[in-house]
Amino acid sequence: MTPDLECADLVKRFGDTTAVDNVSFSVPPGSFFSILGPSGCGKTTIMRMIAGFLDPTSGDIRIKGGSVLDTPPNKRPVNMVFQHLALFPMMTIADNIGYGLRRQKMPKDQIARKVDEALDRIGLPGIGGRKVDELSGGQKQRVAIARCMVLEPDVLLLDEPLGALDLKLREHMKVELKALQAAFDTTFVYITHDQSEALVMSDQIAVMNAGRFEQVGTGQDLYYRPDTPFVAGFIGEANRWKGRIERAEGSALEMRTETGLAMRATATGTLSPGDTAEIFVRPESIRLAATAEALSAFDNQLQGTVTSILFNGAASRVLVQDSVGETLEVTLPQSGEFANLKRGDTLHIGWGAAQATCFAVAA
Ligand SMILES: Nc1ncnc2c1ncn2[C@@H]1O[C@H](COP(=O)(O)OP(=O)(O)OP(=O)(O)O)[C@@H](O)[C@H]1O
Ligand SMILES: [Mg+2]
Repeated sequence: MTPDLECADLVKRFGDTTAVDNVSFSVPPGSFFSILGPSGCGKTTIMRMIAGFLDPTSGDIRIKGGSVLDTPPNKRPVNMVFQHLALFPMMTIADNIGYGLRRQKMPKDQIARKVDEALDRIGLPGIGGRKVDELSGGQKQRVAIARCMVLEPDVLLLDEPLGALDLKLREHMKVELKALQAAFDTTFVYITHDQSEALVMSDQIAVMNAGRFEQVGTGQDLYYRPDTPFVAGFIGEANRWKGRIERAEGSALEMRTETGLAMRATATGTLSPGDTAEIFVRPESIRLAATAEALSAFDNQLQGTVTSILFNGAASRVLVQDSVGETLEVTLPQSGEFANLKRGDTLHIGWGAAQATCFAVAA
């Protein structure tokens, strides 16, 4: 099937800055594609090139198989929802949603029907006569999306559309947006620096860093099988150790940390004895136990002292200081077994080599 959107070797330079550095990706019809990366990595620049507000330095952008480089922004089959949504405050909700259709000179009765349909789809039927300031932040956001959707774009570009909302509303809108995308069956390209937004909603996520895509994959791919140290550090939380590889048999490794601990891990890429490397272990991959015997099946075991308990409901963590003074973050199991844990308690912790991802790093 022809992808809805394809970017090929896309480059954008502003003077000496390369904001987008040879990015290629394709988005299948009806899917939710996110670009996730830190501030300044080039996300908005990609969107502005797709929308046509900015010309690429080189590369191509194809929509439904055809290049749109020579198509002006208002003729491209894409629409963009901005972080600070720009509804027209003087117009009613219905007039806001119908704005683009009026510009296309669609007959009035047809516009009214489309607007009603859109209001139904966003779960706000009958509010067409209201003013913009009579809606909550989340409702306004849905109207902003409906206003783009009625134009039936092939691709909808959303640049941090939830950025202006408070946390609770963002959590709610994550689920709503995903449902809206399915309801309208439109291809979404979604920009965010919030990994949870990307993980919850996306079919595919591109992790972007300094103008480049580090990895493109499903949330599970990025979380469980990161290709690069940047992705491993950016998605989810991780305990990290740098050191030198002492033994390597295929992907099975043993590394000596800078602080002198021997650790078993699994290589991503090729690693050989003597190489400088870094190990990543997620807090939820580490098991807690009262005794060392309970952890004898694990490849890596340490003893430590509880220095802090970070209570956060189901996401609670405990900080454990090991024998060489390093602090590890460990997820507190929900079994209740460690409900009475307190500062100063001695604990045993263990994790498997399969849960310890190791990358080569520059020495
Ligand atoms: N018109 C411009 N002229 C010069 N430099 C620019 C221009 N637009 C963007 N840049 C630079 O390009 C880089 C990427 O900017 P961009 O807006 O794409 O980042 P972003 O990933 O969207 O960041 P944020 O998450 O903060 O919105 C930045 O270093 C920025 O300063
Ligand atoms: Mg931006």
